Amino acid sequence: MKFFIDTANMDDIKKAYKMGVLNGVTTNPSLVAKEGVKFEDRIEEILLAVPDVESVSAEVTPDAITAEQMMAEADELIKINNGDKRVTIKVPMTEAGLETTRYLAKKGVKVNVTLIFTVNQALLAARAGASYVSPFLGRLDDISEDGVLLVSKIAELFRIHNIDSQIIAASVRHPDHVTRVAMAGADIATIPFKVIQQLTKHPLTDQGIEKFAADWTKAVK
Ligand code: E4P
Repeated sequence: MKFFIDTANMDDIKKAYKMGVLNGVTTNPSLVAKEGVKFEDRIEEILLAVPDVESVSAEVTPDAITAEQMMAEADELIKINNGDKRVTIKVPMTEAGLETTRYLAKKGVKVNVTLIFTVNQALLAARAGASYVSPFLGRLDDISEDGVLLVSKIAELFRIHNIDSQIIAASVRHPDHVTRVAMAGADIATIPFKVIQQLTKHPLTDQGIEKFAADWTKAVK
């Protein structure tokens, strides 16, 4: 399973990239709004900061409701950074989103269909040509449904039918989500920076470092 970071914050993106584990970035309208910057400018800034990742998701805005509106926005977004092929257009799982997915996929543009909460939605997105489908596990857990189970069902379905769309486990809230979606067959988890940091931690690691440091003061030098 690969790691994407789920943020539009440049400091967090740069720190995660330096850790050497990052393969992509996902943003959404809420995450961009928090940053107080122009959306297209921030996508360009991200592309420049993470030169060798496979994908940077830029979501069509909530103002785009119809397929025509989504396609028009997407056609502008794919021009960012001289037509950078890593720009992945994120569209919501709606009829218009599916139409836009087909339109972009035919042009060779990568699409991430977001806000997926059922296996059928994931299958539709894949058949429309999505490179990525994003089930939101945390938001399902929030309403007492099993988000990880959804990821595992989508993974099974894609395996049975030889579907090569990648599953991005989204709405990841804590390290146990990461372990469980990796075991469930997600191709990617997109994770907030705080959770990426938590993944590096274990109290015995800290204690071990302290003990080595204490013992080292007694070593012959
Ligand atoms: C995914 O691409 C979304 O940006 C994200 O994971 C949503 O997570 P949330 O439910 O924590 O807002």
